[in-house]
Formats: sequence, C-alpha cells, structure tokens
Amino acid sequence: MKDAQPRAIYLKDYQQPDYWIETTALSFELGEESTLVTSTLNFKLNDTKTHAQLPELTLVGENMELVSVAIDGAVLSGDQYKVDSEQLVLQPQSEAFETYIVTRIKPQENTSLEGLYKSGGMFCTQCEAEGFRKITYYLDRPDVMSIFTTTVIGDKDKYPVLLSNGNAIERKDLDDGRHMVTWNDPFKKPAYLFALVGGNLEFIEDTFTTMSGREVTLRIFVEPHNITKCDHAMRSLKKSMKWDEEVYGREYDLDIFMIVAVDDFNMGAMENKGLNIFNSTCVLARPDNATDAAHERIDAIVAHEYFHNWSGNRVTCRDWFQLSLKEGFTVFRDAEYTADMYSRTVKRIQDVNFLRSAQFVEDAGPMAHPIRPESFIEISNFYTLTVYEKGAEVVRMIHSIVGSEGFRKGSDLYFDRHDGQAVTTEDFVAAMEDANGVDLSQFKRWYSQAGTPVLDVSDSYDEDAQEYSLTIKQSCPATPGQDTKLPFHIPVAIGLLDGEGEPMPLNGEGETTVVLDLKEPEQTFTFKADERPLPSLLRGFSAPVKVNYDYSREDLIFLMSHDEDGFNRWDSCQRLAINVLMELVADIQAGRELAVDPQLLAAYGKVLADESLDLAMIAEMLLLPSETLLAEQMDVIDVDAIHQAREFVRGAIAEAHKERLQQIYNSLNVDKPYQAEPEDIAERRLKNIALSYLVELDDAASVELAQAQFAAASNMTDSIAALSNLIGAVHESGKAVAEQALAEFAEKWADDTNVMNMWFSTQVTDSRFGTLAKVRELMEHPGFDKKNPNKMRSLVSGYCSGNLVNFHNISGESYEFLADEVIRIDALNPQLASRLINPLTRWKRYDEKRRELMLAALKRIQQQDLSKDLFEVVSKSLA
Ligand code: ARG
Ligand code: ZN
Repeated sequence: MKDAQPRAIYLKDYQQPDYWIETTALSFELGEESTLVTSTLNFKLNDTKTHAQLPELTLVGENMELVSVAIDGAVLSGDQYKVDSEQLVLQPQSEAFETYIVTRIKPQENTSLEGLYKSGGMFCTQCEAEGFRKITYYLDRPDVMSIFTTTVIGDKDKYPVLLSNGNAIERKDLDDGRHMVTWNDPFKKPAYLFALVGGNLEFIEDTFTTMSGREVTLRIFVEPHNITKCDHAMRSLKKSMKWDEEVYGREYDLDIFMIVAVDDFNMGAMENKGLNIFNSTCVLARPDNATDAAHERIDAIVAHEYFHNWSGNRVTCRDWFQLSLKEGFTVFRDAEYTADMYSRTVKRIQDVNFLRSAQFVEDAGPMAHPIRPESFIEISNFYTLTVYEKGAEVVRMIHSIVGSEGFRKGSDLYFDRHDGQAVTTEDFVAAMEDANGVDLSQFKRWYSQAGTPVLDVSDSYDEDAQEYSLTIKQSCPATPGQDTKLPFHIPVAIGLLDGEGEPMPLNGEGETTVVLDLKEPEQTFTFKADERPLPSLLRGFSAPVKVNYDYSREDLIFLMSHDEDGFNRWDSCQRLAINVLMELVADIQAGRELAVDPQLLAAYGKVLADESLDLAMIAEMLLLPSETLLAEQMDVIDVDAIHQAREFVRGAIAEAHKERLQQIYNSLNVDKPYQAEPEDIAERRLKNIALSYLVELDDAASVELAQAQFAAASNMTDSIAALSNLIGAVHESGKAVAEQALAEFAEKWADDTNVMNMWFSTQVTDSRFGTLAKVRELMEHPGFDKKNPNKMRSLVSGYCSGNLVNFHNISGESYEFLADEVIRIDALNPQLASRLINPLTRWKRYDEKRRELMLAALKRIQQQDLSKDLFEVVSKSLA
C-alpha cells in the first residue's frame, strides 16, 4: 500500500477557483527523448469570491520536470515557489498577472495513455478527465475555461502533420529540419478538451455546408496503411452534422473538423474541440475488414463525439460530478440519431438489453452510484454505464414527460442560456422546467439516488363498474451509502389489449398508449374497460426499472404476437425465455430430467414463420437472453447450470425448427455487394443467427454450411460469423475445420490489428475452445501486445466476462490469472487495470467456494502498491 491512502473528493465541497485563466499559450517541442512545454497563462482574480488578501495560486502537475517559472517577466528563484510531485504553488502579487512556465515531459515513457503519449510513431493526447496535468502545471478543472493558442514544433520528416484545436494560423519551416504550426481555438474551453497530434499521417477530406451556408473542411487522419478505411466514418460525420442541425438546430462553429485514429487508447473516443481523437476500432472500417456491428458502432461514436461539440464543449460541466450532464445527454442524442438512421425498435431493444445485462449489474454491485455521484477517489472510475447509459435513460424520461416539442424548447433554452459556461445537471433540468412550465423537483431524485427501482404491479377488474385497475408499488434496493430511498417520479407507459389482441382506447382521445406518472410508493390507476384486458407494461422501456407482473406463459405468447408496441413484443419473448430457462436451471440443480416447454418451441416456430415481422425483429427475438442476464435472475449465481440450460434450449430450438432455419439461411445466403444499410444488416444478422442454431445440431452438414460461408465470405460480418460458428459447432468434424479456418484467417489478417483483435476474442469466448490455456497461449502470439488496451480487452476481458463457465471454473485458476494481469497492468495503465478487474468485484454473488477464491484474489491485489484507480475499486469491492 502507498504511504498515504488516496482521499475522496466530495460534490458538497465544490468551490469556484480563486483565479481564472483568460488566455493560454502553449508551445511544444516534440523530441525523441523528451518534450519541452512552454506555457504562458494570463490569470485574473475571481472577484466574485471574497479575499482578505491575494490567495496563493495552486497549479496541478504530475510526472514533469519544472525547468523554469516566471511571473510578469521576472524569473522566480527556488524560494519564491513551492513544488512537489502533484503541484506548483505561487504567490501572486497582483489581481491580473502572467505566468511563464517551462516543463519537460517524457511522452515516450507515458504508458498510462493519459496526457501526452506516443501511440506507434505518433504523438497524441488524452486529457479528459484529468490528463492535462500530465502536460503542464495548470488549473486542470472544467470550470476554468480559456482561449488556447498552441504551437507545435517537430521534425518535419518524422512528424509532417502537427495538429491542435481550432484553426491553423501559422506554418513555418525551421532551419534545423523541424517545422512548426500554430493553432488558435477562438472558443473558450476547459483543459480537458485540449488536444495535440504529431505524426506521419495521411488524411481523407470532404466538406460540409452548414445550415447558414458556411463551408466546413472535414478531415480524417490515419497512419498511411489505414487510409482505405476512412470512408464510412466520413459518411457518418456528415450525416450527424446534418442531423444535429435538423433535430436540435445546432450548427458547427469552426472552419475545420478533424478526426484522428490511434491504436493505443483507453476509451472509445474523445471530443476535443475541433480535433476528435478516436480509438482506431471506432473509426476504421471497410466492408472486408469490419463487421456490421463495427460499422454501426462507428456511426454511433462519430455522431456521439460530434454532438459533444454542443452538449459538452459549448456548454460544459462545472465539475466532474456533473459528468452525466454531457454524457447522459449525448448518449441520448446519439441513440436518437441511430434510431432515425436504422430501426428505432431494434436500437431500443439493443440498448435495453445492454442496460439490463450490464448497468443493472453495476447498480446492484459495490460500485453502485447515482448518475451524479456524491464523491469519488478517482474520476476515471466514474466513466460508467450508470453515468452514460442510465444517464441517457434519465434524459429520455424527461423527453417523454415534456414531449418532443417541449424537449426541443428545453434544449434550445439550455444551449442559449449557458453557451460558453460550465454548468450543472440542475441547470439542465431547470431549462427543461422553465421552457415547459413543468415541475421536475421529484424527478431530480434520479440524479441523486442510486439503484434500480422495482415496480410490483397487480391488477383487478370490476365487472359491474366495467373498470380495470392497475396498482403499482415502487421500491428501490439499498446501495452503498444509501440505505433507504425516496419515491421516484417514474413515467410508466402502458397499453391494454382486449381478448382479440386489439388495443383498447385509454382515454377520451382514444389513445392506446398512455404514460402514467408514478410518484407515490403505491398508486392505483383506473381505466374504463368493457372486458378484462391484458396489460402491456412499460412500453418502449419508458423508465430504467424492473417490472414484476404475474404473466402466464400464455399471456406472454399472446403479447408476443399482438402487442402494438414492438419493444414489448420482444420483451414478452424475453420474459418467456427467462421463465423457461430459469425453470430448467432449477431442474438441473435438483437433478431432474430436462425437457423444454413445447409452448416455448411453438412460440419460436411462430416467430420464424411470421411474415409480418421484419427480419431485424425476428433476429432480435431469436436471441436467447445472455448468460450474464440470466445470472442476474439468481441470488447465488450458478454459471454451470445457466450455461447448460441455455445450450439445452438452443439445441431444442434447432432440433424443432431445423427445416425452417435451413430455409431462412438459404434464402438469405445470397452474394451481393456489401452495404452497411439496415435491411442488409438485418439479412446478414438473421442468416448468421440461423447458422448459429444449425451448428447446435450434431450434424456434419451444418459444419459444411459454415465452412462454405467462410470460404465464400466477401465481408467481415459473414467471415467472422462463419469462423465463430465453426469454433462453436457441436459436430466433431467442426474442430479440424475451425483450426484450419483460424490459421487461414490469421495469415490473411496478420497486418490488420483490429481484425486480429476479433480473432483473439472469438476464440476465447467459446466455452469449449476458449480455455485458460488457450488464453495464455494467445497472449504469446506475435500479434498480441500485453500493453495495448484493445488487445487486453479482446483477450482478457473477452475471456473473463464472455466465457463465464471457464472463468468461474472451480479450480480458481482464472481468478489468479486475472489478478496477475490486473497487478501487472496497474503499474503501466491504471485506468485499464481498474476496468479489467471488474469480474472479480462481483464475488458476493457466487457460492461459498468461489466467493473464497475470488476474495483471495482480490486481497492479493489489495496487498500491492496500487494506483488510485485500482485502490478505489478494490477497497469498495471489499467493503
Ligand atoms: N468524453 C469521452 C466520451 O465521448 C470519454 C473520454 C473519457 N476518457 C477517460 N479517460 N476517462 O465519452
Ligand atoms: Zn461522451
């Protein structure tokens, strides 16, 4: 352990800074040994605070050598400032003054991927949340907004491209083989939005004409070998610029917008002003080397980062507790963009599936926190599914409470009122209230209370009065630091179906879906109804909650084919599958003989035959709930029984519907030019899901199908699906074919690092193929890099989170393996370590033996000299 335990920082302690920074002028001399950073800052006293005398100025800075410091032109001697490993303290002599600070940093040695670092041959930065302090001494906090001018100097051959935020205002060659470029960003911004790139890069270029007629240059910069993989991202960028004008009235504000792809990156991407930096997996795509899922992800992330230009950059966060202000809102914006570009229902299904299988888990675990946390030790640990995805659900609920026109009025007011400011989630909600004349005071509990609320729904029908009543009780489990919760304001969208499956009118206007405002711990809602209806609850997943209602299997099957709400048709299918699967889990645990309820098989038969359903919907309905989602249904998770039950049902579905699955497969297996368009994506998805069922059969013909698809595939979606279906095939002939295909694939794609990442993860997520021994073997593969986050995620997280049976093998070996990797990585890259450890933090949910083993692994980690990041996660999991 470190000598001093890391301390928590509290929202309630927020205070404005004593000084503001009006202008920031930086110069970087990029070098092979070290980089010299010169900063000229103009400070002004914050006169809204009372000061008895001029307060000290404390600038934060880490991992740097202070070369010199001057104030207003006078160089300071060692006794005129204090410096330690975290800060530089100066005593100003006037209310307005200029500092001149020279520091030396070593980007080449920076493995944390925070601050300025090297990825391959290129210099790049990641400053959010607190990375700027690894570049120079500064007021590294989002409420300090400044105008930046940045000069980058570097060797002209090695770093022909030198980029920073804003517009390039000067370029010059120097005598010594170096050149320099100066950039100016006319918009005030916090340091976390600063970016710099220097490297040997090529770019593709396009233009976008904004709604007011300004022409913006768009460039995507990549290493030369990736130049053929940028077109899809460029199309996405133009689509999102247009969408933000149409839906939010937001126009881009600089003359140029740049995206740079880097291979070493902790997260997905970063919205630096005018110079977004992306993890290469989130930009690069060509039909032959990226899947449909990758194409969709790229589209969504390009849009997300672009949308931040308004929701995040023009209006930013006052402090990091407000992170969901920009992230929840921006995720909501990108989800709506995707819904408009592809299928609204399918997007909703995928988002809710993700929320339930991952965010609900987080909300029930040791790191549970409200979307606006009250305290943190390390802010990097709060870039969570809760802040992002649940945060987006909270914004979506506001959208459904005020309606889409009201929401647009609210967002207009918000952007207008706060342009150029650093604000809070309160300000966002206030704009929505003021623009719509609504009271969201109770609703705001969503920002301060953690945990997933539970709705217990019961109903009754009064034959004489012809009245149907729904009684909804809400509750929310305790979370760390919050034993009891106050009732939430929950918008519950519902509909009622009559005996024929027709929607019943619910009010005078004849509406068949209404949103109930649930505000009390228990509330009853009554409707006129001339027969007893079947309720369709939480349509469109109108709130991030769990709903209990005692549906019979017949009810669910009825809803699957009649509910006018597409999301709920899918959800009824999920409920039915969960119901059947959990019964089988109980049978397995009790040693009973297994049989799949014929009703479930018949229901799937109906889905497969339903001509009215679109292909994307059929595909979503055919996917059984994931093992992770099933695990959430159990108090003590039994990974083996879950896996066995799920495999058993998959086999039974394949057996029962073999012919239809083959028919679907054959009808969709047509060779046509690749397009990442919704219909084509749906066709490939359904085809490959059909194949994944067919390989469940002990049947050489299925292996041949997969083999033929692998040989013929002209796009990555079909190629990787064939590969993973060969790996997963039940028939013994699959093994040799899979080995052969894996070898061919690796040879073909050896030089494409992102394709190789899929090759790694596909192998280790299969329960028979992907053993711990396989993981260890692959870590030694020449295409692997033990420091690279993408590679570590594909192999280590792929295995530990995607292969539950093997990871939780009772030997405990995999727990030890993960602990070793976490400890090794923590010394290099704390952010990565504190994410990798995640599967171990859920130890309380397992049986006694596994609990002990996981706990032992956690405690061994705790014994080490830990980063703040890992310290926080480990200590909270052990609390
Ligand atoms: N703001 C980025 C986004 O678009 C995420 C960057 C966070 N980076 C980090 N190291 N915590 O969501
Ligand atoms: Zn974001």
